[in-house]
Amino acid sequence: MGAAPLETLFTEDTIRQRVSSLARDISRDYAHADELILIGVLKGAFIFAADLTRRLTIPRRVDFVALASYGDSDKSSGVVRVIMDLRCNIAGKHVLVVDDIVDTGATMHYLMKTLLARQPASLRSCVLLRKNKQRAVSMPVDYVGFEIDDVWVVGYGLEYADQFRTLPDICVLRKRAE
Ligand code: IMP
Ligand code: MG
Repeated sequence: MGAAPLETLFTEDTIRQRVSSLARDISRDYAHADELILIGVLKGAFIFAADLTRRLTIPRRVDFVALASYGDSDKSSGVVRVIMDLRCNIAGKHVLVVDDIVDTGATMHYLMKTLLARQPASLRSCVLLRKNKQRAVSMPVDYVGFEIDDVWVVGYGLEYADQFRTLPDICVLRKRAE
C-alpha cells in the first residue's frame, strides 16, 4: 500500500480550542446539576471523551458503552447492537452521551432510545463532528463541535479499517476508486 491520501481538515490546535469551548458550554449548562454522567461511545469517542471530560469544571463521572453496526466498515447498515453496556445505573441522573461523529444518525438514535428507557433525570448528546447531509433518521444533537461535508474522516479517535485512529489531527481520507 502506498502513502495514505490524507488531507488535514482540523489541526490538533483547532480541535483543542473547539473542545475547550464545548467544555465551557457544557459546564455552564450543567452548573446547577449535582453531577453529570458522561457516556463515551467506544471506540471512536475515546480521545474526545478523555479531552472533553478533563476540561469540564463541574462534578462529573465517566462511563463507556461500546456499540457496533452490522455491515461494511464505512457504510452504516442502520442496525446497531450493544457490545459492552454501561457499568453505572443512570436512573435519576443527568446524562450526556459523547460520540465522535453523527453520519446517518442511526447509532445516536438507537443509543438515546436505549438510555431513555432507563429513566435518567435528563439526557443530551454531544458529538465532535456532524456530517451535513439529508438523513434517513432525523437526529437532533445538543452539542456539535464541527459540521463537515459528507466525507470520510480519520484521526483523533476516528478510523478506517481500524487505522489512523491515533493521528493528532482530523483528516479527510480520499479513498482510491474501487
Ligand atoms: P451513524 O451512521 O451516524 O450511525 O454513524 C455510525 C458510526 O460510524 C459513527 O459513530 C462512527 O463511529 C462511524 N463513522 C461514521 N462516519 C465516519 C467517518 O467519516 N469516519 C470514521 N468513522 C465514521
Ligand atoms: Mg462511533
